[in-house]
Amino acid sequence: MAETAKIEFNGHSFGLPVLSGSVGPDVLDIRDLHAECGIFTYDPGFTSTAACRSKITYIDGDEGVLLHAGYPIDQLAEQSSFMEVAYLLLNGELPGAAALDKFSSTITRHTMLHEQLIQFYRGFRRDAHPMAIMCGVVGALSAFYHDSTDISDGYQRMVASHRLIAKMPTIAAMAYKYSLGQPFMYPDNSLSYVGNFLRMTFGVPPEPYVVDPIVERAMDRIFILHADHEQNASTSTVRLASSSGANPFACIAAGIACLWGPAHGGANEAALNMLRQIGKPERIPEYIARAKDKDDPFRLMGFGHRVYKNYDPRAKVMQATAAEVLDKLGVDDPVFDVARELEQIALKDEYFIEKKLYPNVDFYSGVILSAIGFPTTMFTALFALARTTGWVAQWNEMISDPEQKIGRPRQLYTGPAQRDYVPVEQR
Ligand code: ACO
Repeated sequence: MAETAKIEFNGHSFGLPVLSGSVGPDVLDIRDLHAECGIFTYDPGFTSTAACRSKITYIDGDEGVLLHAGYPIDQLAEQSSFMEVAYLLLNGELPGAAALDKFSSTITRHTMLHEQLIQFYRGFRRDAHPMAIMCGVVGALSAFYHDSTDISDGYQRMVASHRLIAKMPTIAAMAYKYSLGQPFMYPDNSLSYVGNFLRMTFGVPPEPYVVDPIVERAMDRIFILHADHEQNASTSTVRLASSSGANPFACIAAGIACLWGPAHGGANEAALNMLRQIGKPERIPEYIARAKDKDDPFRLMGFGHRVYKNYDPRAKVMQATAAEVLDKLGVDDPVFDVARELEQIALKDEYFIEKKLYPNVDFYSGVILSAIGFPTTMFTALFALARTTGWVAQWNEMISDPEQKIGRPRQLYTGPAQRDYVPVEQR
């Protein structure tokens, strides 16, 4: 018989069913709590609330474990490819060679953008942040691809998913090109997903672009590390937006908006800016002291995580990749030394130990992206590009889940109780 938890309230006792997943903590099913007891639960920031069932990604924050459909992130980052991981997130299983080939070629054939979207880009200021452009352009896809906005149609959902994954590199690269005032580069279907993105970003029409296999492999790995992270803020935003039945392009634009914040995806940009500001290892203690000072809003960017109370497994792979890329590209960036030294000092500091603050995925990613040649403003756009696969997978899962309803949290009201209106001349 299923376990139940007892709750005593107002002299009554109620049973709450306990639900078990395949791994991880059980959850209390409180769906009938208000109907039974007349109370709600209070959980700002959803620190203790599971909002859905999901088969896509599992995290054990205490142990520093991240699995996609059961596969550890370090194995995927080292042995797999981003296309394979995208397939895995969407389908729940790794593809065979033929399925992977078909999936990759489907994605490749959706990389072009509607030509009229070029006019849309021209409406932005040249100094617009790429994330501002991404929010706008991805939302605008709903106005261009009407034949994949009916979420009740499985085929249209699949086409929208493929379009989003395929067009994101083109959109991000065009945002970059626009900021430079350089011509947009059309996709080249002979290249890999990542190779194509690199060419659209760093190539120019008058000369051939040769993809550097070291950079291609590093970017592919970075995309894998960012592909999904279960119910994080931006994914929950995508789910909440789509719970009303909104079209996928609008929902992913909402996810991009959420990701932009410095407490979430914007931290990679903030982390590298911070490392550059620190500049040399001798200044680290000053910044550590500021991070610990309660009266100073400064935080060590790229440190700490809502779920990981251990080393973020993605940060481990990222650190190794940073060392490899800098070495192979022959880049001697003092910022990497600052990062490594800062990590060592923080990991031995009582404040960080006690609060279980470890480097997260954003701590080292900026060092690699900067060595490859991306400006800091592009960092979060790259995160959005990769996370689109996770958003799309979670969105599909949610639409297919018969238990999902429109997301509608309740509140603990603390404003005035009912009172009578007083005409202005009597106030
Ligand atoms: N530097 C210094 N102190 C920190 C840091 C940090 N980076 N992170 C958390 N703390 C402290 C807080 O001041 C707080 O101290 P207190 O208990 O004395 O008040 C305690 O640790 C807990 O912090 P919360 O903000 O309550 O933890 P929460 O789980 O809500 O926040 C978050 C997690 C937002 C990621 C936080 O650690 C942070 O701001 N980190 C820096 C930004 C960052 O790197 N974000 C990227 C996250 S990963 C991602 O989105 C891909």
